[in-house]
Amino acid sequence: MTEILFGITGGIAAYKAAAAVSKLVQSGFGVDVVMTESATQLIAPKTFEALTNRPVRRSLFDTGTAHLHIELARKAALFCIAPATANILAKAAAGIADDLVSTLILSFDGKILFAPAMNSVMWHKPAVQRNVRQLLDDGAVFIGPETGHLSCGETGTGRMTEPEQIVKEIQRLTYTGKTENQNR
Ligand SMILES: Cc1cc2nc3c(=O)[nH]c(=O)nc-3n(C[C@H](O)[C@H](O)[C@H](O)COP(=O)(O)O)c2cc1C
Repeated sequence: MTEILFGITGGIAAYKAAAAVSKLVQSGFGVDVVMTESATQLIAPKTFEALTNRPVRRSLFDTGTAHLHIELARKAALFCIAPATANILAKAAAGIADDLVSTLILSFDGKILFAPAMNSVMWHKPAVQRNVRQLLDDGAVFIGPETGHLSCGETGTGRMTEPEQIVKEIQRLTYTGKTENQNR
């Protein structure tokens, strides 16, 4: 079974992550969900525990596993962060590791797929664009954001790519042609 690490950060599009995780599980992926504290304000971890039948991790320190960030990173073929906030893009670009999701970004040595989601003013900020360029230079893959209706009521660029498209991209990035897969 191909293992996916699925990071959820504090964007309103976190509710769409539930559809993506559900589709991944239905497609035969093993999915470990990790969430930032902000993400848990927007959607309950229980939703993802029910969808994956696995515990949802939120902290480096709240489990019996001392090296959780290493163990989760080791077993995954791909790390998808959807939605990816402006904040997580900044932390990832700078190499900051001050919570579980950002520490996993540093300790993971496979492909990282970001699906950004934010207000269009945020997306167009030079700092955000600079961080995206840095992450692309560092080998990260991006999907979206799309242009359309934003939750703030405006129309613009910043809408998270739809779950079906994110799942297709994960399938494309992890496809090896083999049944057993450690696609690094
Ligand atoms: C209701 C609500 C919706 C938000 N949506 C977004 C968003 O779509 N994108 C974003 O970058 N930040 C958004 N934010 C702000 C982030 O939650 C905030 O920057 C937070 O520090 C991100 O933390 P994290 O990256 O650790 O999850 C939102 C905040 C609130 C209260």
